[in-house]
Order: sequence, then C-alpha cells, then structure tokens
Amino acid sequence: MIFYRIKQFYWALTSRINEQDSRFIKSILSIEELKLFNKLSINEQKHCVKVAYDVERICNSKKGKVDEKLLLKAALLHDIGKIHRKLNLIDKSFIVSMDRISKGKLRKFSQKQKINVYYNHSKIGVDLLKKIEYNEKLFYLIENHHNNDIHHNNLELKILKYCDKRN
Ligand SMILES: [Fe+2]
Ligand SMILES: [Fe+2]
Repeated sequence: MIFYRIKQFYWALTSRINEQDSRFIKSILSIEELKLFNKLSINEQKHCVKVAYDVERICNSKKGKVDEKLLLKAALLHDIGKIHRKLNLIDKSFIVSMDRISKGKLRKFSQKQKINVYYNHSKIGVDLLKKIEYNEKLFYLIENHHNNDIHHNNLELKILKYCDKRN
C-alpha cells in the first residue's frame, strides 16, 4: 500500500493534460461542464482523465450492458466538488494518511474547510452540477462514489468506484 501511495504521489507530481486528453475531455463534456472541470487543479484533472480512460476500457468489454456516455461523464466529473478548495499534494497525502491512521475519526474535524472538501466533495459536486443541468443518474454516481454503505446492484457505480480506486 505504501508503494502505491508513493506511486500516486509521483503521478500527481508529474501530471499534465496533453492534446489527446484535452480532445477526449471536450468530446465528453458540455461547455458548461468543461468550465467547471477547468477549475480543478491539474492533478485532479489528470486523475479524472485517467479514471475516464479506465472506464472507457471497461465499457469496451461490456458493450451494451452499461451506459458508456453517462459513465464517462461521471468519471470526468466525479471529483468536481473539489474545485472550491484546492487540496495541494501535501494536504491530500496528509489527509488520506491521517484518515487511514485515525480510521475515519478525522471526519470530526470537517469544519476545517480542506478536510470538509475531502469528505464532502461528492455532495458538493452534485450541488455544483445542479446549477447547470439536471441528470439524476449522473448525480447518483457522483454522490455515491465514496459510499461504501450501499449495495452495488448498480453496475455503473461499481465500475466508477473500481476505476477511481485504481487511479
Ligand atoms: Fe472522490
Ligand atoms: Fe477520484
């Protein structure tokens, strides 16, 4: 796990949105969604793009069983709630590690803005999107992408969570 964290840290340090990424993003998001997406830090943008590439690969093997368009959009927008308070790399690594060590007790301090964003970005993201569109299925996926308490008979949510964890 520690090596995985180091690898994630390295990816985040070296992340860049290239031409191919940018064409990919524009083929999925509407203009309004793109405006929000561009407010994410580059690290977060790259993370979301990687999640979306993984989603695309999985969808290719599940043709017809999942709503690919919806899932790609959800992949790019799942962390959109992080635009309000950008977590830098150190903050993120610190919060993720402390969350593990404290087994979630860190949540008590969620009045602290940065910690609040880490725990509540799913809900914050949906509230932001509600200002520009209405898409119940998309909202469901985003709102629950960190929810471990629900049973997954929703294949799209299962795929999104799997791809998010890998990236
Ligand atoms: Fe997230
Ligand atoms: Fe994520």
